[in-house]
Amino acid sequence: MKLKKKIPLIDQHDKLGFWGGKFGGSYIPETLKKPVDDLTKEFKKLRKNKKFLKKRDLYFKNYIGSPTRFIKLENLSKHIGGAQIWAKVVSDANGGAHKIYNATVHALICKSMGKKYIVGDTGAGYAGKMLSMAAKKFGLKCKIFMGAKDIKRQKPNCDAMRKNGAEIVPVTTGSQTLVDAVSECMRYWVSNCDTTHMCVGSTVGPNIFVKICGWSTAQISRELKKQIKEQFKKIPKKIKLINCVGGGSSAYGFWSEFIDYPKSQIELIGVEAGGPKKSKLHAAPLSRGAKLGVLHGAASYVCQNNEGQINETESISAGLDYPGVSPIHCFLKDTKRARYTYATDEDALNAYKLVTKFEKLNPSLEPSHAFAEAIKIAPKFNKDTIIIVNSCGDAKKDRDILRKRLGRKI
Ligand SMILES: Cc1ncc(COP(=O)(O)O)c(C=O)c1O
Repeated sequence: MKLKKKIPLIDQHDKLGFWGGKFGGSYIPETLKKPVDDLTKEFKKLRKNKKFLKKRDLYFKNYIGSPTRFIKLENLSKHIGGAQIWAKVVSDANGGAHKIYNATVHALICKSMGKKYIVGDTGAGYAGKMLSMAAKKFGLKCKIFMGAKDIKRQKPNCDAMRKNGAEIVPVTTGSQTLVDAVSECMRYWVSNCDTTHMCVGSTVGPNIFVKICGWSTAQISRELKKQIKEQFKKIPKKIKLINCVGGGSSAYGFWSEFIDYPKSQIELIGVEAGGPKKSKLHAAPLSRGAKLGVLHGAASYVCQNNEGQINETESISAGLDYPGVSPIHCFLKDTKRARYTYATDEDALNAYKLVTKFEKLNPSLEPSHAFAEAIKIAPKFNKDTIIIVNSCGDAKKDRDILRKRLGRKI
């Protein structure tokens, strides 16, 4: 299993859509064959179309607000000691998280295909909020599938979706979280694919959805590369790019431009949800030894029992609370290009406390997992090492959980 240079990772799959011959693919029912083929053809055409690319770049700049900031966390770095800690403040993007990139591109594709309805899944509510925003902007009718447990814990984002005119479909099956929302959304699409476009909210699902999402979030690392060069005059010798990993869309977007660099120069570190310290449950298939399985139309490492049934997961972070992970991260793990670890709920909360104490930054619980790793490893290095964390979401959506767990208003 080998990574190729100079080819975007989203395109390094074989004819059947597998990365490294075993991750990904398109496990779809016969009824979806045509809509998936149509979407694949449309995306192939659009990504080469100069007019479309110009339009995309214009929306990225004027609607999403790219580039987002790249800032040094001076006070936090001083307090922790060791490496410099920086943040790419992707939560500056319109709507407060990276999910706006994928949502905007899907809305543009939906328009281009002449469809008027768009559906999507959401966990933390950001993928849903952003799809509802993009749908409103482009005059599409939008339905969002969301687990009933997540509707309760991410209320501010649900309010935003409704305000944007989207219908939220509560999913009350299974664990009532993201995994069930994605299943229901896909089920709905099977029956409505003639009129409706589906947006998968992360780099998961059948091959084409992994590609579209990764292609959309890759904007983050294009910006970052430019900002690093502006800041340091060249790419420094020791960089660590730390990102939380749920499905893996923010991490891929943050890393894509840097995958070709040697690991000794740019280390890629993915942080999964370790769940509560005292619980056996987690959502960390890459870092806690999950086996290969098939979930939501693709093969990847999946938290499952010996019979292949999906395990229940648990995390304080709705966005990371997912038993599977992108096939491209499975490939990065097996090729050893990226290192994956986890942070517990408590680690993430402590990191949130520290970051907000020392900096004017308000990372949601998902990137707080990445900050936990940054805080843990920074003292092991000196100032020549540049740790950059993708602060990919704003904590406003976590208002109720943070009030309950930390007893403070945000
Ligand atoms: C702010 C934020 N970060 C991270 C994630 C995890 O998803 P992904 O791994 O696809 O970036 C989510 C998911 O909802 C999110 O809202």
